[in-house]
Amino acid sequence: MCGIVGCILKDDEAAPVLLECVKKLEYRGYDSVGIATPSSKINIRKDKGKISEAEKNVKLSDLPGNMGIAHVRWATHGIPTQKNAHPHTDCNGKIAVVHNGIIENYKELKNNLESEGHIFKSDTDTEVIPHLIEKFMDQGFDLEIAVRKTLDMINGSYALAVISTDEPGKIVGVRKESPMIVGKGDGDYFLASDVPAILKHTNNIIYLEDGEMVILDADGVTVKNVLGEIIEKEIHIIEWTPDMAEKGGFDHFMIKEIHEQPDAVRDTLMESSEIEKIVNNLGGIERICFVACGTSYHASLIGKYLFESLMGLPTDVILASEFQYSSKAMDEKTLVIFISQSGETADTLKALRTAKKRSETLVIVNVVGSTATREAKHVVFTRAGPEIGVAATKTYVSQLTCVYLLAAHMSKRMDLVEELHKIPKFMVEVLDNEDYIHRIAKKYKDAQDFFFIGRGFSYPTALEGALKLKEITYIHGEGYAAGELKHGPLALIDDGVPVVAVVAPGNIHDKTLSNVEEVRARGAHVISVGSSDDEILKSESKDMMVMDSEIDELISPIPYIVPLQLLAYYISVEKGIDPDKPKNLAKCVTVE
Ligand code: F6R
Repeated sequence: MCGIVGCILKDDEAAPVLLECVKKLEYRGYDSVGIATPSSKINIRKDKGKISEAEKNVKLSDLPGNMGIAHVRWATHGIPTQKNAHPHTDCNGKIAVVHNGIIENYKELKNNLESEGHIFKSDTDTEVIPHLIEKFMDQGFDLEIAVRKTLDMINGSYALAVISTDEPGKIVGVRKESPMIVGKGDGDYFLASDVPAILKHTNNIIYLEDGEMVILDADGVTVKNVLGEIIEKEIHIIEWTPDMAEKGGFDHFMIKEIHEQPDAVRDTLMESSEIEKIVNNLGGIERICFVACGTSYHASLIGKYLFESLMGLPTDVILASEFQYSSKAMDEKTLVIFISQSGETADTLKALRTAKKRSETLVIVNVVGSTATREAKHVVFTRAGPEIGVAATKTYVSQLTCVYLLAAHMSKRMDLVEELHKIPKFMVEVLDNEDYIHRIAKKYKDAQDFFFIGRGFSYPTALEGALKLKEITYIHGEGYAAGELKHGPLALIDDGVPVVAVVAPGNIHDKTLSNVEEVRARGAHVISVGSSDDEILKSESKDMMVMDSEIDELISPIPYIVPLQLLAYYISVEKGIDPDKPKNLAKCVTVE
């Protein structure tokens, strides 16, 4: 879940460009940062902490040369320290490596290398790689062959970039189960973990497949397959502009992305005809199974309510990390729908690889060219644009939009598609009321615990509201089906405990109100999300975040999440936390 970049530039110094690119990858990890360039030796600058902190201690871009590699780290093996920061080198400081992924057999390799006299400087799994390359180069192999021989020895997942002083002017990159893209500019060549990192420099992108190797040098880019044969790769022209990956005047990416949600829904609705085509090609589906993690799992839960209520289709929802243990009932009549904004989540990809052996697979994904798009039979794109903030917001509402479009086309409910077109307006109304939600956030920022409750379509919304709060405020937040409270959690409700009640109008309204009464009777402070004409709810609530009274219960999950995202965001800001970079989390989880 780290981020890597490499570049060879025609006219410019590489280190400042690498630093600028790696800043765009900070959402992938911010435990440490490092850059290396080759000259007569490998020159390295690295330190622990976020890039802005590391820059205070180390002049990261003060390195010579027009080529190099860089890394931001999300620690797996070895705590975040300067010595564990990448790039890692061999014994003689002639080879440098940046790595995203995990080397599973590193202990055994390290023991062998140490017994052969190699000296290790870090606690990372990565460091075995430069030492193995060193060993093979000492035996007379060139860099490319030495990397190949190293790959034969390591187990696990990786995206690697390697440089050596013995072959200056060359970067070797490889990928296996961790993303890597290549950028081909005009005399400037790049590799990176994802597109926004290099978008300012080029939008001509090559997607590497597992097992492929790329060699960058002054003459350009060469891609080889596992056998070492040169292969022709398609160049994709990416339509995202660099501005789409900038803050555009907002304080944080997260709030910018929350504000982009009306457009994200509008743009995703344009996928309707593509989705219709896919639906027309699905034959004899008798059962649906959604598979996802985190926020994407919450989008899946709403899918269950939707498919079951519109079509009566039996629908399961399985956490991707649990799929191996609970997917036995799947067969060729099951459509397994994977939801993943990144398309690179290791748990989701593993489940996808298992499911496609016996079922029809469809992935709902935001990142064009990501691994999931190449592995699933059918691909539906969310049109949210690049999401940089670690907490998913606009990709979530876009995922939901796709789920609703799928359900609408499968059930032939075109009236539902019409309803969906009203959602951007409902979202704008909430965003116009942002200052009020900010005031509520100030009131509750010091709470120790929060509860979120909802029924039916509002239950996953409660779960997602609680997840957003936990992630970016570090306040303990639990989401519950409102009816479940009395089966245990009610014991935790005391005077002044904030309970966020999601009370969309419709079938579940009155029953949820009874649950609101229950918590109020135990002293809870009820913060509700409900219809602007819901006078009873207003009278039961200490604070109410009002929604347009025209919003139908069926589509309520999409607009109703917006106030909860804003609440979490403003509590985070009030607590002095950076909501874009919550501790211990990374945007793209490429380890199981
Ligand atoms: C929460 C969040 C995570 C992701 C989860 C799955 O805000 O972003 O819970 O939803 O890690 O990631 P994707 O959707 O990329 O598979």
